[in-house]
Amino acid sequence: MKNFSLRCIGCGAEYGANEVVYTCSRCGDLLDVIVDTDRVFSRDLLRGRVESIWRYAELLPDFGDGVVSLGEGFTRLVRCERLARILGVKELYLKLEGLNPTGSFKDRGMSVGVSMALRIGARRVMCASTGNTSASLAAYSARAGLECIVLIPEGKVAIGKLFQARIHGAKVYQVRGNFDEALSIAFRSASETGAYFLNSVNPWRIEGQKTVSFEIWEQLGRTDINVVVPVGNSGNISAIWKGFKELQLYGVIDDFPRLVGVQAKGAAPIVELLTNNASSIRFWDNPETIATAIRIGKPVNWKKGVRAVKDSRGIAVSVSDDEILDGLRLLATTEGVACEPAGASTIAGLKKLLDEGRIGRDETAVCILTGNALKDPSEHLVSWNTPMILESLGAKPI
Ligand SMILES: Cc1ncc(COP(=O)(O)O)c(C=O)c1O
Ligand SMILES: [Zn+2]
Repeated sequence: MKNFSLRCIGCGAEYGANEVVYTCSRCGDLLDVIVDTDRVFSRDLLRGRVESIWRYAELLPDFGDGVVSLGEGFTRLVRCERLARILGVKELYLKLEGLNPTGSFKDRGMSVGVSMALRIGARRVMCASTGNTSASLAAYSARAGLECIVLIPEGKVAIGKLFQARIHGAKVYQVRGNFDEALSIAFRSASETGAYFLNSVNPWRIEGQKTVSFEIWEQLGRTDINVVVPVGNSGNISAIWKGFKELQLYGVIDDFPRLVGVQAKGAAPIVELLTNNASSIRFWDNPETIATAIRIGKPVNWKKGVRAVKDSRGIAVSVSDDEILDGLRLLATTEGVACEPAGASTIAGLKKLLDEGRIGRDETAVCILTGNALKDPSEHLVSWNTPMILESLGAKPI
């Protein structure tokens, strides 16, 4: 991989791009992909290019003919005037990541990650997942002809996501415990089973996911904005920050956005760290939230996530399950756009920060709706007040 390399964020140790290494073998810290700064990049290059993450070829690793793609990325950015008026913010946009091939932003990272698996000659891939990672890895590994093993927390994965993993032929193992325990088992067993490990601690996943920032820049034409992101393991918020930093590195932007990380109240170790201005994280043993995608107490990428919020002069905020549900219903009924609960946490977080005056009403916000509504069609997400007249005429609400 010409001029791409890996660097430890702790001790600075460097590794070649084709080395199979997930964390620093010297100090155990996370790795960053260092991009090829000899390449030239500009908006003019993009005209007429493929509408997927691969339109940003200069900023992505070069796999030649070995790219595993399902057309991920280049999702729509939709302006929402009605919801903006209700929330009381000047401009609001939604990035519809549910439009990705398997219905979540994970596809961006899996296209790069599974391409890398092929490059290094892996025959088998593995991940632990709250649902979307397994759905995405199952699809991309099927496309690439690789065997796929996924570990999930028993009873805590939305039905649509489990269906996806199984329909694409992944071997699904349930763990009696939460995501953090599933992750620990997956990480320990990956090398023994000869599997390439594709959770977001794998830095190549982040490379794919950073493309959402390129799209926001290209579609919106400015970056003096708030980007509001649900945070679980904090891989995605790290990726988004990396994307904007690279746009600055290649000389195409001057303004950095402010990154706003939203966690569920019952699973908010990163918000706790930033609120207390602590130097190290306190992991939570029993995370709980209806937004199962972000039901994570031990975020593996916490150092990168905290760095993204701090360096962007951003904000971390937590929201209750009721606030998430209110956000989802408000979004769905005012804009005709829905998403899974984790994505709706961005609406709840934005509302809270506007009400508290921590985001100005004259500002612009882009909420990243990370996953498709159909992934989690749970009954408790839709409790409506049906007009009484219908009931008196014998029609029963469901
Ligand atoms: C829909 C959805 N939103 C947000 C997240 C959180 O992303 P991250 O773990 O990278 O912080 C996930 C992760 O599984 C997800 O599936
Ligand atoms: Zn190191």
